[in-house]
Formats: sequence, C-alpha cells, structure tokens
Amino acid sequence: MAQERLYLYPIWLRFWHFVNALLCLILIVTGVSMQFSAPAIALVKFDTAVAIHNIAGIILTINYLIFFIGNLFAFNGSQYQIKFKGLMKRLMTQATYYTFGIFKGESPPFPITRENKFNPLQRFSYVFIMYLFVPVVFITGWALLYPQTIPTTILRTSGLHLTDLFHIISGFIISLFMLIHIYFCTIGASPGANFKSIMNGYHEPH
Ligand code: HEM
Repeated sequence: MAQERLYLYPIWLRFWHFVNALLCLILIVTGVSMQFSAPAIALVKFDTAVAIHNIAGIILTINYLIFFIGNLFAFNGSQYQIKFKGLMKRLMTQATYYTFGIFKGESPPFPITRENKFNPLQRFSYVFIMYLFVPVVFITGWALLYPQTIPTTILRTSGLHLTDLFHIISGFIISLFMLIHIYFCTIGASPGANFKSIMNGYHEPH
C-alpha cells in the first residue's frame, strides 16, 4: 500500500528553520573569520565580522523563541520528548541500519509516521542541539556581548575565558552537526526529497 503524504513541517517551523539555517551559516563564516583573523588575509574584515556576528546572534536568539514557544504549544513538541526506556537499543538499531542495512536495501527500522517523524538518532541529536548547544551558544554569546556580567573568576579560572571556551566549543559542535545533518538529509525518497519537504511541509513517501 502506498504511504500517504504526511504534513510534517508546519509553516512556523519552516520559517524558523530557514532563518536559523541562514543565520548559522552567517555566524560560522564570521565566527571562523574572527577566530583566524589576520589583517592581511581576513575572510571578512575583523570589525565587519564582529558587527555581523553580533547582529546575527541577536536575531538567532529571537528566532529561537519561535522554535521554543512553538514546540511548547504545538504538536511538534512531542517529537522532542525522549523516552529513556530502550533508548540505547533504538539508537543501536538505527545506527546498524545506517552502517549496514541501508546498503543492503533493507527498509528503515523506524518508518516515518505523524507521531514519530524522526528516527531515534535524529530525535536524540535534534534534542541535544536545540535544547543544549544552541541555548549555550546564545547565552554565552550574550554574556560575551556584555562581559561586565561575567564573574571575574569561575572555578579559579578566568570567567571570560571559560565563557569564551563554552561559546567556541558549542559553536564548533553546531557546525559539525550542520554538516552531518545536511548529509543525512540526503537520505530520503530521493537525495533532494527532504530538502523539498522542509520547504513545502510535506514528507515524500518512499
Ligand atoms: C543550510 C543548512 C541546513 C539545511 C540544508 C537543513 C536541512 C534540513 C532538512 C531537509 C530537514 C528536514 C528533514 C528532517 O526532519 O530531518 C531539516 C530539519 C531540521 N533541521 Fe535542518 N538544515 C540546515 C541547518 C540546520 C541547523 C543549523 C540546525 C540547528 C542548529 C538545524 C536543525 C534542524 C532541526 C531541529 C530539524 C527538525 C525540525 C522539526 O521537524 O521539528 N538545521 N533540516
């Protein structure tokens, strides 16, 4: 029986995702540019990179509220609840499928439904990125924007350095996530199917 077309990405979610993806790209380019800035070979001029990075970070925070409040009240929020019972087994089943099963033409162990649009690995990584690393990146970002709010010493080290370290580590993890995320998004009914879905809202059945 042919699978029905599922409406999985409501308009507010697609809007949030588009703005978020664009801002993350801008933040990565300007962030990397600031990190490795040398006046002669700057990717983006240092002052310009700082200004763009700050503005993009502020908009990212506001945009995050759409995601957070949306998930608090809309059905989509249920996709981000992790059931710990049997979690390890579900993660291993999905990982085994990605490493072996998929190449043998097996069907996915967790077919997409309205109640379960993410496979266990997706659910787990999306929760970590959206509820841990993205908040850490913008909270530390705001603190660095107003450094006077950071305690001089935290755990006997410089509060500023520690905040900066958390900001850079979470930024790096989000960048890594984005690369892996885009790669895994090519695994769908066709390599472009999931990208079409995040634009028109409908999941393309296999
Ligand atoms: C150019 C960059 C990006 C592209 C092309 C892209 C592509 C996609 C696609 C095709 C989907 C739908 C498939 C799925 O549900 O997994 C999706 C969903 C998602 N993406 Fe991205 N993405 C990008 C950047 C990001 C970034 C930077 C983040 C987070 C920091 C992110 C977080 C998410 C989340 C949480 C979902 C699931 C949304 C939901 O249905 O609740 N994406 N993305």
